Amino acid sequence: MGAGGLVGGTVLVTGASRGLGREAARWLAERGFTVIAGTRAPALIPGTDVLALDVADEASVRAAVAHVKARHGRLDALVNNAAIQIDGTDGVLDLPLETLRRTLETNTLAPLRMAQAFAPLMGKGGRIVNVSSGGGQLSTPAAWAPAYCISKTALNAVTVQLSEGLKPKGIAVNAVCPGWVRTDMGGAEAPRSLEEGAASILWPILEAGPDVTGGFWRDGKRIEW
Ligand SMILES: NC(=O)c1ccc[n+]([C@@H]2O[C@H](COP(=O)([O-])OP(=O)(O)OC[C@H]3O[C@@H](n4cnc5c(N)ncnc54)[C@H](OP(=O)(O)O)[C@@H]3O)[C@@H](O)[C@H]2O)c1
Repeated sequence: MGAGGLVGGTVLVTGASRGLGREAARWLAERGFTVIAGTRAPALIPGTDVLALDVADEASVRAAVAHVKARHGRLDALVNNAAIQIDGTDGVLDLPLETLRRTLETNTLAPLRMAQAFAPLMGKGGRIVNVSSGGGQLSTPAAWAPAYCISKTALNAVTVQLSEGLKPKGIAVNAVCPGWVRTDMGGAEAPRSLEEGAASILWPILEAGPDVTGGFWRDGKRIEW
């Protein structure tokens, strides 16, 4: 644990049913954090308070806020991890706009909705982590999964806006890339393990100081937007 990282507290991880979200929730619980694991379908994630949460559904998010307020009173960190990748093989010229609309709903608008909903439960020193992707980097144009990549570029913009908007409250907001990881989304041929991906996601919570905000990070190193 580095200087400035949280050493305990209550953390909500979205999309904790499988993949990187589940690994991040497990990792935090093992280190003594109180972990609220947001999942769409009922699941058992040892050591966590499992919470029904569909981030794309406003009523579900409202109910989750009420639950966290009643049961935990406050939130120290939010990990906006849930996402979908529903691009087929279409390039951007054939991209059905409905695919983009659905992807933006989950990958971009939902993290914003979650931040708006949960920031009032967070105080000075709080952290919001938006799990983005190298595919969203404008500096390195991606020629795959256009809806997904556009949604992550937009998520990066949301991150910068939230970082500015939450500075007065002392809440740090950062985007992270986990690298290409072996999950349902990443596929079996991905080079990175769940542990490596989760470490990259959790760096702004476990290692970074409270003043580190408004950046895009992989493995604790700043990357280009
Ligand atoms: N794997 C990679 O190589 C890679 C690379 C760069 C970035 N990322 C990012 O890392 C994050 C995690 O990816 P992953 O590889 O672990 O993906 P994954 O294995 O496909 O898991 C996605 C998770 O998101 C949840 N989810 C999707 N829509 C949701 C919704 N509306 N409400 C609540 N939960 C929802 C899924 O829940 P259900 O089980 O209910 O479907 C699942 O738990 C994502 O933000 C992804 O974009 C991954």
